[in-house]
Amino acid sequence: MNISIRNILPVAIIAVFAIHSCEENENENETKISSYNSTESHKAGQNCMTCHKSGGSGEGWFTVAGTVYDSTKAATFPNATVRLFTGPEGTGNLIMDIEVDGNGNFYTTESIDFGNGLYTLVEGNLITKHMNSVISTGQCSSCHGVSTDRVWVK
Ligand code: HEC
Ligand code: HEC
Repeated sequence: MNISIRNILPVAIIAVFAIHSCEENENENETKISSYNSTESHKAGQNCMTCHKSGGSGEGWFTVAGTVYDSTKAATFPNATVRLFTGPEGTGNLIMDIEVDGNGNFYTTESIDFGNGLYTLVEGNLITKHMNSVISTGQCSSCHGVSTDRVWVK
């Protein structure tokens, strides 16, 4: 049998394409939801969705994520709770509850409909803080720590 480069080359090219498209399929969402005391997260204070989005490097495409600090605004506050409502000050329908993890970070990949905007609040151990205006994005740290104060509770 005469196995020349002309026979092998097409097979090699097909193999390279097959491996390549396999890698492309790795751009898939994964369910990731923060829970009290877990410490799988990182990069406190950064806007998680610069990476945790379709085509980004982060595992899971977050719909709502951010970081909660204590009253020093320098140290994170673990195990708080973030809630999203249709009405101000915890009124209307509860749309989502997210447990802040042991690093002070919260994140979810669950789908969420912001509609005309949702109200959010953060419950600490001693105080609950309400955001007065509505949000239409879950990228909390696109504003907090950038154009406005860090989110903090006691
Ligand atoms: C600069 C890009 C980048 C930013 C910003 C970023 N991440 Fe990630 N994240 C990654 C990458 C890459 C991975 C996968 C590899 C790894 O675990 O480091 C990941 C993994 C994770 C995981 C999965 C760990 C596991 O083992 O399942 C969680 C949870 C997570 N990030 C949470 C967050 C949170 C919360 C924020 C914002 C406070 C955030 N990330 C910000 C890039 C980022
Ligand atoms: C578009 C920018 C923006 C986004 C996104 C945003 N915030 Fe805010 N947030 C603000 C501004 C500005 C204020 C102060 C005015 C107000 O309450 O409306 C605020 C206030 C707050 C307060 C009250 C702070 C205090 O000390 O009383 C909390 C709590 C809060 N935000 C939590 C969140 C959470 C949690 C998210 C993400 C789910 C979020 N915010 C997303 C801009 C934003």
